[in-house]
Amino acid sequence: MTPSSSSAAHPFFSRALLAWYPRHRRDLPWRHTRDPYAIWLSEVILQQTRVKQGLPYYLDFITTYPTVHDLAAAPEDEVLRHWQGLGYYSRARNMHHTAQQVVREFEGQFPGTYAGLLQLRGVGQYTAAAIASFAYDEKVAVLDGNVFRVLARVFGISADIAVPASRKVFQQLADTLIPADAPAEFNQAIMEFGAIQCTPLKPDCLFCPLQSECYAFQHGLVAELPVKSKAKAARTRYFHYLVLRHADRIYMRKRTGKDIWQGLYDFALTETELPELAAHLILDQVEALGGKLATDRVEEPTPAFRQVLSHQKLEARFHSLWLQEPLSSASLSASGLAAFSAEEVEQLPKPLLITNYIGK
Ligand code: ADE
Ligand code: SF4
Repeated sequence: MTPSSSSAAHPFFSRALLAWYPRHRRDLPWRHTRDPYAIWLSEVILQQTRVKQGLPYYLDFITTYPTVHDLAAAPEDEVLRHWQGLGYYSRARNMHHTAQQVVREFEGQFPGTYAGLLQLRGVGQYTAAAIASFAYDEKVAVLDGNVFRVLARVFGISADIAVPASRKVFQQLADTLIPADAPAEFNQAIMEFGAIQCTPLKPDCLFCPLQSECYAFQHGLVAELPVKSKAKAARTRYFHYLVLRHADRIYMRKRTGKDIWQGLYDFALTETELPELAAHLILDQVEALGGKLATDRVEEPTPAFRQVLSHQKLEARFHSLWLQEPLSSASLSASGLAAFSAEEVEQLPKPLLITNYIGK
């Protein structure tokens, strides 16, 4: 497979795309602003999230935190709480840190160029290009999954988009395509075209203005492009949660360390290689946490609660355990657990899996 045309500019492509865009674009709130903060916020939320799912979160965030100062000043727990349900919580923590960085190091002003934006934490080439073009009309082409797909199909590029080195091929092409007089419009247009016309599974080739020039369509390769090698199968992790209670208190723990869900609250956790955890091991665990059970019988755990993350599948079972007396403060500080009322639990930022269990 070779590109269908030379590296000279492709005026047909840009012209057709810019004609298509105003007739098909969705009316989205971040398209009515040039505020780099609002645009950055929308892009962080829309990473790995569909527009339909991300939209209410964007509206909530921009209302709750109308400026970067508001976001920077908010407590992390509150930010995570607003993020709850979107997943990939490290994005929320990075977002919060970036807001603080903008306030601290840049006096609350987002850097005014692509190169400057790249200095911000969590702002990679895609996000920097999106902000620089949408907010400042800088001529720098965005590359996301939609753009890779459109370019691979229209220009017959077979470079594996799962391989980082392929990015250069697409970047060079996109840089020749983006018109100097409409960079923001072009970037929005090509992403939107990928999102609603040239979609992954059933692109609307029959009513496509690029059909006559599209390499994939002309060569019957629409289903073959883009080329994307498969990621390794996700591993399964088995979680056993010890839901310790005493009176009207429930013991939870803020997650720290490198693993998933940093900063969110869950229960005392034992992870196993297989789905089951023997009752005597549960008793050992409770003892290790400094607890004494009110009964000597351990009940069956809940059925598995499942959640699929990007690189792992989780299967969590919850063991409801009543304590004879509250955990001592020494036990609490050793384990990181703390006692919460039902109302406090409601307010804590929690992984979806935990919220599902509590709400069952
Ligand atoms: N996905 C990521 N960024 C987007 C944007 N600006 N508009 C629509 N969908 C998007
Ligand atoms: Fe995409 Fe089909 Fe249009 Fe080609 S003809 S750009 S594959 S929708």
